[in-house]
Amino acid sequence: MTQAATPHSSADGRWLDLRLAPELFAADVPVAEGQPACIVVQQGRIVWVGPQDQVPAVYAGLPAHEGGARLATPGLVDCHTHLVYGGERANEFAMRLAGASYEEVARAGGGIVSSVKATREASEEELIAQALPRLDQLLAEGVTAIEIKSGYGLSLEHERKQLRVARRLAELRGVTVRTTFLGAHALPPEYAGRSQDYIDLVCREIMPALAAEGLIDAVDVFCERIAFSLAETEQVFQAAQALGLPVKLHAEQLSNMEGAALAARYGALSCDHIEHLSENGIAAMRDAGTVAVLLPGAFYTLRDTKVPPIDGLRAAKVPMAVSTDHNPGTSPALSLLLMANMACTLFRLTVPEALAGITRHAARALGLQHEQGLIAAGRPANFVLWPVRHAAELAYWFGNKPDCTVVRQGRITRA
Ligand code: NIG
Ligand code: FE
Repeated sequence: MTQAATPHSSADGRWLDLRLAPELFAADVPVAEGQPACIVVQQGRIVWVGPQDQVPAVYAGLPAHEGGARLATPGLVDCHTHLVYGGERANEFAMRLAGASYEEVARAGGGIVSSVKATREASEEELIAQALPRLDQLLAEGVTAIEIKSGYGLSLEHERKQLRVARRLAELRGVTVRTTFLGAHALPPEYAGRSQDYIDLVCREIMPALAAEGLIDAVDVFCERIAFSLAETEQVFQAAQALGLPVKLHAEQLSNMEGAALAARYGALSCDHIEHLSENGIAAMRDAGTVAVLLPGAFYTLRDTKVPPIDGLRAAKVPMAVSTDHNPGTSPALSLLLMANMACTLFRLTVPEALAGITRHAARALGLQHEQGLIAAGRPANFVLWPVRHAAELAYWFGNKPDCTVVRQGRITRA
């Protein structure tokens, strides 16, 4: 019997007549290129991957799902987003078109602080209502795990609200959400000229309280001339370390602050943006096993010209992830596949690098490398079936809305 894939039904059974995207699966029995493959799912977990004519007899009675010769990849992982915020900033888009730089917009009272105002004014319900359609666009394109940062609240009450919304989104959509506390994103207006006082507040009050409430999976800082210094960043990292929380960093986006080397010393999961990353930073990331998260959407929006040091990262074998950096200012992007395309076109990643960047390496940037980013037995069933002949098509088309089947946490969420 072949089971029709209907949304919200269980994905348990044998998924037949699939092709597997190179390098994104670990088979129980080797699969030759072009050989029809099968993924077996039981109780929401992948239990076997291999050639369809070698499925163990013990699974023969399970219902069959027709793969239709589609390409299977792991669920996509969007490892850097600021998805929860109030309002939007289309006016800044116009300002930048008229010649203002990101830094000038920020200094003129726009930028992150204007989203802080709108986020503080919004209720939890309003933030959920605004974030859900954005989340749904990402999920429709095969995202099965996503990171969501705070950083538009900048006070205990409003950072808590953002992180609670992120947790609620996970429940509402049955998607894996990793929350990142980014209290040190910008200086809130009430602390103007008192950066050290604000960092003390973040470290002594806000972060410990939200960690105790179970709202923080990792801690991030915006280390930049227009944001927080290296010393302030280190203070936040020390506070995170004392709470047992992993760190990551918005590093070397607009200038080289040597933030990446600092983050690597704290065993950072990832350093993100890194357009101005130095040789020293690359070596430190390599030694610490820190993932380089490339954010071509922000690079594109800001019309940046300084490309991250891809050759150096590649030579050092630093894993490179690619993410949307979805945020209302510098990257209002809602397609991870478009980011894969841009990572190839703007940063000269190869297609396999870009595809690993939105799956395997992105999972690692979130500490989820054992659950997400690879089709393999033992993992929760998170995979996508794409109506394409070649894996390269996933990075080749842009503006495409592929008609894919999405299995998320063992459920068929899009048929
Ligand atoms: O990742 N660089 C800092 N944070 C965001 C921008 C946030 C904003 O402009 O609202 C980023 O690009
Ligand atoms: Fe960001």
